[in-house]
Amino acid sequence: MLAPSVERRLAAALGRLGSESAFEVMARAKDLERRGRSVVHLEIGEPDFDTPAHIKAAAAKALETGWTHYVPSAGVIELREAIAGHLSRTRGIALDTENVVVGPGGKPVIWCILSALLDPGDELIYADPAYPAYASAASYLGAAAVAVPLLESRDFRLDLDALEAKLSPRTKVVVINSPHNPTGGVLTRADLERIADLAQRRDFLVISDEIYSRNIYDDAGFISIASLPEMAQRTIIVDGFSKAYAMTGWRLGYAAMPKEIAKAVTLLLNNTVSCTTAFVQMAGIAALTGPDDEVVRMNREFRKRRDVVVNGLNAIPGLSCVMPQGAFYAFPNVTRVARDEKRLANFLLEEAGVATLAGTAFGPAGKGYIRLSYANSIENLQLALERIREALPKFKG
Ligand SMILES: Cc1ncc(COP(=O)(O)O)c(C=O)c1O
Repeated sequence: MLAPSVERRLAAALGRLGSESAFEVMARAKDLERRGRSVVHLEIGEPDFDTPAHIKAAAAKALETGWTHYVPSAGVIELREAIAGHLSRTRGIALDTENVVVGPGGKPVIWCILSALLDPGDELIYADPAYPAYASAASYLGAAAVAVPLLESRDFRLDLDALEAKLSPRTKVVVINSPHNPTGGVLTRADLERIADLAQRRDFLVISDEIYSRNIYDDAGFISIASLPEMAQRTIIVDGFSKAYAMTGWRLGYAAMPKEIAKAVTLLLNNTVSCTTAFVQMAGIAALTGPDDEVVRMNREFRKRRDVVVNGLNAIPGLSCVMPQGAFYAFPNVTRVARDEKRLANFLLEEAGVATLAGTAFGPAGKGYIRLSYANSIENLQLALERIREALPKFKG
C-alpha cells in the first residue's frame, strides 16, 4: 500500500487508464495452482503451442552473431522489408519499408499509433466489447472513446447503421478488429465495403487490428479493409507475431501506415522503448520468410478445438454460444444461468477450477457473457467443459 501522501502525487490521468484483466485473472489462477488446486487456463489469449523450431533457431543464431545491440527505432530494415513484402502479398497492396514500424508487441504499437493521432477532444469509435487497449489509450490521451455495441444477434459483427449514427465531425479514427477479440466475430466483405465508403465520405482513418488474420475458419478467408479501393492511404494495419506464430512472450509486433504517420509513431517508439530487441527481430524475419506449415497446422488444430468448445458449451443447459469464425475465443451467453457474469467467472475459477473472463472485462456490452480462450489442448478443454457442466447447477445468481 502507498502512503496517502505518495498516492496524492500520482497523475490524475492514471484514473482514465483501463487494464487487461486477463493478466490479473492469470495471476489469481496461478496463485490457486501454487496452493495445490488444479486450474484449466482459458483466460489468457495465447496459443499453448511452442514457437516453431526454425524461429527459435534464428533467434539463437542472432544471439551468437552479435544481434545484441541497439537497432533503429522503427525496426531493423531487413525485418521491415520482410513485413512490407508479407503485407503487400497477403493484403494485395503496395507497401515499402517506410510504411512499416516494428515495436515490442502489437499493444505498445497501438499505444504509439493512438498517441500519434489523438488530441484531447478527438473521438475514436470502437466496438464494445473490445480488446481493452484502444479505449484505455484513447481515454488516457484525453480523447473520447465512443463505443458501438456488438450484438450476438448479428454474430458479433458491427452494426454499421449504429456506427454511422455515432460518426461526428470530431471522429478521427474508427478501430476495427476482425477476427475479433473477445467474440471471434469476422466482418464480411460487404461490412468492410460499407466502412470504407463511410471512411471516404466522412473522412476518418481506420485502424484495422489484424492480429488474428491467420486465425480464421471462414472459408472466404481473411479480407483486409486496406485492400479495398482508396483505403490503403487511410488504413493503419496492426499485426504481430504473438498469435499466428505462438510468440506471445517474445514481444514483437508491427503496423503499416501512411509514411507521415509512420514517422510520428517512430518518434514515439524512440522516446519510449528506443528500439525493439534486436535478436527477436531476427526471429521475426525467420517467421515471415520461413516455412508456413506450422501456422497452418496450429490453425487447423484451433478449428477442431473451436468445434469441441462451442458444441460442448451449447450442450450445457442454460448456456448458448454462437459459432465464432475466427480468433480463438468462445463468447457464450450466460444470461440464463447468471445475473452477474463476473461472479460467475469467479465461481468457475474458485469452485470449478476453470479460469475464464467476464464479458464485461471487454466493455459494458459484454454483460451477460464470459470469454473462454480455446488455445488449450482438447483434453483440457473437455476437462473444463465437464467441470463447468458439473459446477453450474451449484451457482446461485
Ligand atoms: C485484438 C488484439 N490486438 C492486439 C493484441 C496485442 O498482442 P501483442 O501485444 O502480444 O502483439 C492482442 C492481444 O491479446 C489482441 O487481442
